[in-house]
Amino acid sequence: MKFAERINRLGGEAAFSVLAKARELEAQGREIIHLEIGEPDFDTPRNIIDKAHWALDNQCTHYTPSAGAMEWRESYARYLSERYNVDLDYRNIVIMPGAKPVIFLTALALIEEGDEVVYPNPGYPAYESVANFLGAKAVPMILREENNFRFDIDELKSLITPKTKLMFINSPQNPTGGMLTRKDLETIAELAVEHDFYIIMDEIYSRICYEEPHFSTLQIPNALDRIVVVEGHSKTYAMTGWRLGYAACNEALAEHLTLLMVNANSCPAAFTQVAGAEALHGDQSDVDKMVARFKMRRDLIVKGLNEIEGVSCTMPKGAFYAFPNVKSFGKKATEIADYLMEEAGVACLAGTSFGAHGEGYIRLSYANSLENIQKALDKMQEALAKLKEGRHALV
Ligand SMILES: Cc1ncc(COP(=O)(O)O)c(C=O)c1O
Repeated sequence: MKFAERINRLGGEAAFSVLAKARELEAQGREIIHLEIGEPDFDTPRNIIDKAHWALDNQCTHYTPSAGAMEWRESYARYLSERYNVDLDYRNIVIMPGAKPVIFLTALALIEEGDEVVYPNPGYPAYESVANFLGAKAVPMILREENNFRFDIDELKSLITPKTKLMFINSPQNPTGGMLTRKDLETIAELAVEHDFYIIMDEIYSRICYEEPHFSTLQIPNALDRIVVVEGHSKTYAMTGWRLGYAACNEALAEHLTLLMVNANSCPAAFTQVAGAEALHGDQSDVDKMVARFKMRRDLIVKGLNEIEGVSCTMPKGAFYAFPNVKSFGKKATEIADYLMEEAGVACLAGTSFGAHGEGYIRLSYANSLENIQKALDKMQEALAKLKEGRHALV
């Protein structure tokens, strides 16, 4: 088979390959603590599951319009409108099977070959991958630990050229847990107007914030002229396997995204759209409980990591990832991640899985129980002490 040349420019996602390797070791009888995959370990809240059962029993088993049924688009628009005090309606919402297709299809609608696309590095791998896939020049915006993994606005300005067409922004951020401030986001939105580029604003972790509440770019006046907000149910409602996300955007883009959905998916699954509306408008107490649990786990893991000799970790402000600095070991991030899996039985990801500027870091997802996190910390401490003292020489 002769494949299209662009297929070689698509990147993968390490979380899935590391998970596969961890499962292999488990099949050989090894005990592995899973801190690699970015999904809540909680069950989807009961009211959402009950609503999905109801939907399946009530004929929500057929095609819907490609952007989602009007009723549910309106319901998702009302959720965002009430939450952020903005004025959206169904024409601003396109429902898709996950946030990832929102990223991919929006990029397809906006990027042309030769465009420049600025993206956070380290950052969610899909951004760089889709920019490369579409023949754009992917321009990394380096997120630095000393800046709490926020953008440096002056550095960002220096990356903008007349060819800049699109910027990916993600806050709260995967993999660093960093959050941009309202001022940061307003400045970026002003730059988009001044330099005529668009923004794909990934707000999938918007409900998982620990200190300050999330500021949505939807709150910026005329936001939808230039910004597409990516939202989804996977993280907030522990619904990763349901595949449900949505774009909030202007009507013209929504029409193009709808056409892309016609061609790629026909429509999102009918019963998940219904359950998704229940998630947004029903009882939110489970979300509050999950976020409170994440916060306890964050505090435990960050404290524990900082107690390990040679490791330092900034306090993440959102999402459910710790991104510790392991540079003192003088090894590549992939070597440290592989070593931790083999020696400590702790599955985690190398920072470089999120771009070249993740070198020197590893990502640990703390979507796991306090007991398992403590066990992982103890095992990591022991394994990394061996490395530090030269009692183990990474073969
Ligand atoms: C920043 C970010 N955006 C998007 C997604 C994709 O989410 P979904 O499961 O809705 O496709 C993820 C999942 O890890 C993510 O971390």
